Amino acid sequence: SETDKGTYPFYMLKEIDEQPNVMRRLAQVYLSETGEPVISDKLLNSMKQADRIYIVGAGTSYHAGLVGKRLFENLTQTPTEVHISSEFAYEQPILSKKPFFIFLSQSGETADSREVLVNVNAGGHESLTITNVQNSTLSREATYTLLLHAGPEIAVASTKAYTAQIAIEAILAKALGEADNQIVAQRFDVRHQLGLVATGIQAIVDEKKKLEDLAKSSFLKTPNAFYIGRGIDWSVSLEAALKLKEISYVQAEGFASGELKHGTIALIEKGTPVIGLITQEKTAGLTRSNLQETMARGAHIITIVSESLAKPGDDIILPDVDELMSPLLSVVPTQLIAYYTSLNKGLDVDRPRNLAKSVTVE
Ligand code: G6P
Repeated sequence: SETDKGTYPFYMLKEIDEQPNVMRRLAQVYLSETGEPVISDKLLNSMKQADRIYIVGAGTSYHAGLVGKRLFENLTQTPTEVHISSEFAYEQPILSKKPFFIFLSQSGETADSREVLVNVNAGGHESLTITNVQNSTLSREATYTLLLHAGPEIAVASTKAYTAQIAIEAILAKALGEADNQIVAQRFDVRHQLGLVATGIQAIVDEKKKLEDLAKSSFLKTPNAFYIGRGIDWSVSLEAALKLKEISYVQAEGFASGELKHGTIALIEKGTPVIGLITQEKTAGLTRSNLQETMARGAHIITIVSESLAKPGDDIILPDVDELMSPLLSVVPTQLIAYYTSLNKGLDVDRPRNLAKSVTVE
């Protein structure tokens, strides 16, 4: 059954492996036979009137929002802000004239996010909750809901919900951009992309042994590690670092690769793992130089690179997809690195210390 671990030692690995299917399911649920998004006119009209999108979430959902910003801004030209819900709730940014709110929440029950929604409703604003749980509090209280259809996520560390959130953001951004006659959106073949993503994730999870070896050789003994990247790769580096921290207790930081030299590079010592995420053509060379800078200070560098940008000596090669969809692939090796580091440390992967799957206190 859906909530059965089957032959898997931990739910997390099962949930990582389910991601190709989740991608295919989302294409079935949210796209027509011709590949057009199936999103209600009411929701699209409401979003079309917005002059600014505010994405709100916590933890991994916040990180999915960071990727969403790039999708919405690229495909719809609508300025998009992303906020941590516990911050937004008490330091509300100045709102635009016609704001539209998107709540990202796997559980639909996170108290910090609900606090924001209560305020948004009190202000008379429209909102959409994207959640994995039908009838959850956030889904009931928002104007609109889209379901993640990821199946129950049981491991505390979120994996398939993150990729499902990004896939839905891509579909929604395509729909909104098309409704607004944006040429980039018309050209963005989301169905084809989700197909590439599904096969691409499958190829990565089929080679998990390689990532287990990498986890064993480079992450088991280290007290700390850095994920670096620029733009959308930086957004993913934050999620990659969170995975490593939460289940393997390695102190990890996700960093904008160009910012590292302005202070944080002082932390690099002999053997410190620095993992570079390289999926964007325009910044690939820059991230590579930033990696070199850390290597010159003794870092052990590891690269996760899209095939078309790969060079001899790169460590993990990702199948090519549209650059906007790259997080759906680049995050997967980082999920597996975190998983195998935790597993090989003998930790309880699914139930890390001090954490809860859903946090219902502010
Ligand atoms: C908890 C979980 C995280 C999750 C966050 C937000 O802290 O441990 O994995 O990302 O809550 O949860 P939500 O259900 O709102 O996405």
